[in-house]
Amino acid sequence: MKDLIIAANWKMNKTIPECISFISDLDIRLSQWELNPKLKKLGILIFPPAISLHPMNGRSKFISLGCQNIYFEESGAYTGEISVKMIREYTEYALIGHSERREIFKETDKEINKKIKTSLDAGLAPLLCIGETLDEREADKTFDRLAEQLRSDLSGFPPIEIEKIIFAYEPVWAIGTGRTATPEQAQEVHAFITEEINKISGRENKRMILYGGSVKPENSKELLTKKDINGALIGGASLNVESFFAIIEKSLELV
Ligand code: 13P
Repeated sequence: MKDLIIAANWKMNKTIPECISFISDLDIRLSQWELNPKLKKLGILIFPPAISLHPMNGRSKFISLGCQNIYFEESGAYTGEISVKMIREYTEYALIGHSERREIFKETDKEINKKIKTSLDAGLAPLLCIGETLDEREADKTFDRLAEQLRSDLSGFPPIEIEKIIFAYEPVWAIGTGRTATPEQAQEVHAFITEEINKISGRENKRMILYGGSVKPENSKELLTKKDINGALIGGASLNVESFFAIIEKSLELV
């Protein structure tokens, strides 16, 4: 029995009315468990497009919101960017370093490091994503790559700050491909990530590490039963309220 986080990353999908309709529908479904103490052990998070954070805010007491990206400066001439100050009231979490940001938008570990700092300074819990590409996995570089990302992204943070960070292991080759890491593959990596973070912070601690990459109702339970997998970060299957709810329902049996 463990606490779990079930998080939806909607990426660039859904209009404001669609976001509102989803959260209202999910809230009604979740309210059947209002008196079930297990629901408190489940963190349910949605990362909608930033424009929907304000309209979605306050619509469900069961669901927390997070932003998909933030910029590390407070204000100024940064066309198209969003600062934490602008979204702080409507969010509790900030997704940082998603592989799509790293690959498509060429975000560097240095920038990711600054975004984590900005997020922590503002009191938002960072959800840091790391993961290897298919080439790296095939070249047997998975662990090197993950260690490298962790070392750069966490550089300069004292253990007490590292404690506040949630991690997501998202193998790039499993994102949106229908190809999931097997529960054993994911567990092996999660155990490695836990060890690496402990080494970096100099403290032996339990870490919250979510798995992401083609998670769906059919495979979620098997993944989430693994010892070091503390939740799921879901893309495609979170866009549909039935499948996202089905994953939550299955997770409730594990907490
Ligand atoms: P999919 O669940 O669509 O593979 O996406 C995973 C992801 O990128 C979540 O951040």
